[in-house]
Amino acid sequence: MEKQVLNVVDSRSNNRYEFAIEKGAIRASDLRQIRCGAEDFGLMSYDPAFLNTASCRSAITFIDGDKGILRYRGYPIEQLAEKCTFLEVAYLILHGELPTELQLKNFVAGVTEHTMLHEKTKNFLEGFNHDAHPMGMFISTVAALSTVYADARKVLDPESRELQIRRLIGKVPTIAAYAYRHSLGYPYIYPDNDLSYTENFMNMLWRMVEPKYRANPVVARALDILFILHADHEQNCSANVMRAVGSSQADPFVCTAAAAAALSGPLHGGANEEVLKMLDEIGSKDNVRGYVEKIKAGHGKLMGFGHRIYKNYDPRARIIKWAADQVFVATGRNPKLDIALELEKIALEDEYFIKRKLYPNVDFYSGIIYQALGFKPEMFTVLFAIPRTVGWLAQWQEMLEDPEQKIARPRQIYTGYDAREFVPIEKRAVRAVASR
Ligand code: CMC
Repeated sequence: MEKQVLNVVDSRSNNRYEFAIEKGAIRASDLRQIRCGAEDFGLMSYDPAFLNTASCRSAITFIDGDKGILRYRGYPIEQLAEKCTFLEVAYLILHGELPTELQLKNFVAGVTEHTMLHEKTKNFLEGFNHDAHPMGMFISTVAALSTVYADARKVLDPESRELQIRRLIGKVPTIAAYAYRHSLGYPYIYPDNDLSYTENFMNMLWRMVEPKYRANPVVARALDILFILHADHEQNCSANVMRAVGSSQADPFVCTAAAAAALSGPLHGGANEEVLKMLDEIGSKDNVRGYVEKIKAGHGKLMGFGHRIYKNYDPRARIIKWAADQVFVATGRNPKLDIALELEKIALEDEYFIKRKLYPNVDFYSGIIYQALGFKPEMFTVLFAIPRTVGWLAQWQEMLEDPEQKIARPRQIYTGYDAREFVPIEKRAVRAVASR
């Protein structure tokens, strides 16, 4: 193919530059060639919130936001959700190819081997109040595992990385279930390694006095599908945190805790909790129109709507809507669904949402399923964090293996004072503090 280039003329100097275009991008560091004199640092690009900056090359997840396409390692999300188990998809995301039967068996065994938590880890959880937010408990306990596994610091050793990846994937459901039971005051249930990944999670959440937990297969499959849909989503806020913290060569436990902290915010994974609060606030179908008008007038956002990348229906939301119908057969219909459907209908017909291309995202319907399963909204983001741990770890591993990556360190455009003389305290006047 013919070499693609961008020709630039700097109006300050009339100098001309030619920059190579590769995969629809120029290298931002090439801009540094654009200078006005020897003292000039060179031109920077300014991109708050990374609106138009590719921070890495990645072969993991592909999204076409205009067409509503999501693929892991090239496979459409719809096919993976229909045909695979979560751990099969986890293997694909981490290793790049779907596993053979033997590879899957070994991977499942490798993850299952790590479902137990060190007994001391339970003590970390015991320190929390009964009403502590489960996401705070989850983040802190994942970070605390860094103190248990000192070998995790060998981040440049591929064998150690593989071990920590399996440990983390094995342990996050246990941490989540313990946080859940802690908030209810129930005793912790040890993992049952005869069960599948999601069945075992259900066992740790819901087993009471029965000698062996039997998971409802419809619910177990629905959870598996939800886990598949949430497993990765390329360079979102939390994946970016995972890569940024990981780029300092911090261990994967603290990196995962940092990524989970990013996920917990209401504009990211915390939105699923906010959707349920919003549906509670709306209360009934009749109030939907009035609520939408309030949003349009600038009072808040419609939670579970909109996306930085999707300017079309989020394909995950479509599958979740389908999964909700399956779950409701087992649990009974969640009456919130009617409010959500009405909200979606009214919003999708409204000029405000059409013009801004705002569609339901993954968080819009997931909470309705989680609530039907008996979870309180505070648990919803934890349920997102369990499968996303796989995506974070794949992004972390890819970053560490990428020879172009270095410690993440953005530039800034300094807007503060020039150098000024120090003023002794007795001579200082009260001044308005400039925020920037
Ligand atoms: N309700 C009402 N208006 C909205 C919404 C919304 N949910 N989302 C965006 N807008 C408006 C926004 O006010 C802006 O309007 P204007 O052009 O008049 O200023 C326009 O649409 C563009 O929005 P933006 O804030 O520039 O978009 P963004 O790419 O920075 O934000 C977002 C993306 C997901 C943070 C945002 O859509 C949002 O806050 N949504 C609600 C929270 C949510 O559901 N988050 C979950 C995201 S998907 C899962 C995940 O990331 O974990």
